Order: sequence, then C-alpha cells, then structure tokens
Amino acid sequence: MKLFTVGPVACRPEVLREMSIQMFSHRSVEYQRLHQETIERLQRFLETRNQVFLFPSSGSGVMEATIRNCVRKRMLCCINGAFGKRYADVARSNGREVVELRTPLGEPTTPEELDRCLRENPDVEAVAITYNETSVGLINPLPQLAEVVKSHGKLLFVDAVSAMGGAEIKVDEWGIDVCFSSSQKCFGIPPGLAVASVSDEALRLSEQATNKGWYFDFKLYERYQQREWSTHMTPPIPQIAALRKELEIIEKEGGKEARLELYRKRSERIREGIKELDLTLFPRKGYESPTVTCVNAPEGMSGIEIYERMRERGFELAKGYGEVKERTFRIGNMGYIQWEDIEEMLKALAEVIG
Ligand SMILES: Cc1ncc(COP(=O)(O)O)c(C=O)c1O
Repeated sequence: MKLFTVGPVACRPEVLREMSIQMFSHRSVEYQRLHQETIERLQRFLETRNQVFLFPSSGSGVMEATIRNCVRKRMLCCINGAFGKRYADVARSNGREVVELRTPLGEPTTPEELDRCLRENPDVEAVAITYNETSVGLINPLPQLAEVVKSHGKLLFVDAVSAMGGAEIKVDEWGIDVCFSSSQKCFGIPPGLAVASVSDEALRLSEQATNKGWYFDFKLYERYQQREWSTHMTPPIPQIAALRKELEIIEKEGGKEARLELYRKRSERIREGIKELDLTLFPRKGYESPTVTCVNAPEGMSGIEIYERMRERGFELAKGYGEVKERTFRIGNMGYIQWEDIEEMLKALAEVIG
C-alpha cells in the first residue's frame, strides 16, 4: 500500500533501521548523547534558542501541557476545523474558559479578526493557533497572526503537528512561546514522540502554576534536560533515535530550505494533478496546505467512495474529516514518498473518478 495519509505516514528504511538499535538506559551516556544531539538539531531546525523538550506522547499531550502549565483561567482558541476545536475542548476539559474565534470551514483566521477578538477579550492569557489545519488542508498566515498576538502581549501556542518539517517555522523571530509537533507527520517517524519548543516566559508561568500534574510539568522537563540531558520518565528511545537520524538526513540533503522546497514541490504537483482532473480544492485559494491537499469530491461521488476505490488500487489516501467527511477527501504528502508514487497515485485517481 502506498501511503498518502495524514499520519502516521510511511517512514524511510534508514529511519526504521535506526529504530532497531539495541536499547540502552535513559540514564546512560549513550542516551545523553542521543538526547543532546536531537535537541541541538531541533533548535537549529526551528531557529530557536528556546529549550526544546521531548515528550513520550503524541502531539495532543503537549496541547494539554500548554494549558496546564501556562493558563490560569482563560485562553483564546482560533478554530478553522477539527484540531482547533480539539484545543478548545482540551482547555475546557481542564477547567479553563475558552474564547473561540471561529472561521467558516476552509477559511483562514485573519490578522484583522484576531486583533478585533483580542481587543474585545483583553483578559485572555494565551492564544492557540493551529498552523496547518489538517482536517481541511488549510494553512493559516502564522507570521502575521503571531505579530498580532505579540502586539497584545499574549502568550502564543502553535499546534504545528502537521506543519513542523513541511512548512516554515521561525520560533524566535515569530515569538512563539510553545510550538509543538508529533513524530508521525512531516518528520516521517513512527508515532509515540512529541517535540516542543518552550519559551522562558512559558517556563516562568509553569513555575507559578498549581495543579499542573507531574508527567507534563515543563519545569521537570527543563530540570532533567539541564542536569543530565534526559527526561524525568523513560523516553521512547527508538523514536528519538529515528528523529535524530531524520534530522541528520535533512541536514545532509541541503538543510531546512531544501526540505521545505521538497514539500512545496510535492504539494504543487498534487494540486496541479487535481486541476488536470477538473477537481477543485476545499480551502480558500492562497491558503492551501503544503502537507495535506483537501479535495472536493466530484458530483455523484462521495469522498469515502473515492478513498475506498483508491485503496483497491493500492493507495491509502485519507477520508474527509468531521463536517466535510462525505464531501471531501484528502491527500497527504508527508513522510517517505517518491515522485513516481505521486504520478501513479494521480493516474489511479483519474481512473477512479472516470
Ligand atoms: C493539526 C493537528 N493537531 C493535533 C493533532 C493531534 O495530534 P496527535 O494525534 O499526535 O495527538 C493532529 C493529528 O492529526 C493534527 O493534525
């Protein structure tokens, strides 16, 4: 099966081989070296001097951690789809109040709307933005939105789960307080590891936070990292080894720019192919994601039918999500994908839609 999923995605053979190394203790020098090298590579990749932590969870774990460590009472969630909504749900389930800034599905959050919402709600402590809304294949204008958040002096959390590794992120320049992702998306690593950069301000708030729990306490991550390049619990060593390998490959293949260019080209080719088939895209023009293409199903066919027929031909795409499950289908281009596979997938799609 050729995977064009939205995660978990296919992994490079070298990365999978790296995961089969013999285990060592997370209190050993071998682990310390692995941890330190992975962190330093991530800091270069994210262009940040902030600390970067490794979490033994998927991305949603860090979503919850941002709230428990850094929000006392009230936060703002920008919602363009299922994952923005999840942020709000997680905040409410932790007893926080949420101001929702919703856009119609397929539309980005605009800097003007965000500015207006922050003027109307000066008491929110933090703003959460889903950089790339996987459910509808939409990328938000993060640099401009970040500027608005910072002009209001608020903390900024960025859910970069389906963006990190496939779309530009400049943590320090854009002033992101917590920027997180999961291993099973653009980095092309099996699931089970999340990474996040955490600012000094976020750590200061964590220090003052009460009832933040133990497992996701940012201050404990900081203490163990500074003291011994390790974590306060047993980390997922195979995933971390795989991530170090992937970051090493990125650096060897021309660095971040070359990797982002690859994502741009892959998504452009997929969009071009979609256009050649007279199909249309779901998100507003100009905000199409470089990692997930969300396509409107043609007249007389549901997105689910297209998904099923593509599977019969050996291609695993992704069904639409939530409200647009029937009307759309999605084509991910994250992880280990060859150019020939993209061409074959588009050929199969042409047969399927007839
Ligand atoms: C944008 C976005 N945020 C959050 C999540 C949840 O991440 P995880 O499944 O790693 O917890 C996903 C998963 O697809 C996602 O795409």
